[in-house]
Amino acid sequence: MHLFFSFAICSKVFYLSVMEAHKKDKFVVANWKMNKTLKETKEFMDKFKKLIRRDVLRRVGVAIAPPFTCLHALKLPKGISLAAQDMFWEEKGAFTGEISPVQLLEFKVEYVILGHSERRRYMKEDDEMVSKKVSSAIENSIVPIMCIGETLEERRSGRMKAVLERQIVQGLPVEMLREKDSLVIAYEPVWAIGTGIPATPDDIVDAHGFVEGVLDSMGITGVKIIYGGSVDPKVAREISPICSGSLVGGASLRPELFWEIIEGFL
Ligand code: PGA
Repeated sequence: MHLFFSFAICSKVFYLSVMEAHKKDKFVVANWKMNKTLKETKEFMDKFKKLIRRDVLRRVGVAIAPPFTCLHALKLPKGISLAAQDMFWEEKGAFTGEISPVQLLEFKVEYVILGHSERRRYMKEDDEMVSKKVSSAIENSIVPIMCIGETLEERRSGRMKAVLERQIVQGLPVEMLREKDSLVIAYEPVWAIGTGIPATPDDIVDAHGFVEGVLDSMGITGVKIIYGGSVDPKVAREISPICSGSLVGGASLRPELFWEIIEGFL
């Protein structure tokens, strides 16, 4: 009997340590955007490593998405996953300036942020392009973190839910997702990104509930829905009870702040 319990406990610990980051209780992702040189990446990691607590990482999955130029330099400690900020949908070919899923896999990238509002805005990415990228990521066993969210104008004119629904329905390759639970959705209202004005817990509950309903109606279950937009440690503590995690921009650039956010989701 005693032997049985020791085995059960050991296998549980083992299971937790190998569990994919997005399947833990909470999932927190750093989106560094177009920030940090190689030197700055190393400086971040030197400090960040000293803050890490294993017991926290057992419950909060963590991924960091540096710029492509720093993917190879981010020496991540065990328990922290590597993410990319974007990728192209083809595996190779004449697509100047693009990076393919196969190339990302060489760096052991496990997650890819797709359809971020900055890409939708500046690079004119539309739902069809996002959908191709999501399909390609899943085919290559990279977990997509698909970003959706309304602009202030869309919210004010009462179109928030229509926009979220369109982004989900047109951005997701339904057939692929019914078979696998390999998707994260980041609800990131555009008006909350980088503004210092996060959505309120009520806004988040409302949007996440709506997103869950749309996914349900498409037969897609078990998707982790996280929130992004001006998250700092205080916001993290506040939304932790109602939200599965966060996509963090500005505050993830500073090791102490980012770690405090991770702990905020405990
Ligand atoms: P922010 O960015 O935390 O700086 O608001 C979030 C994001 O764009 O993912």
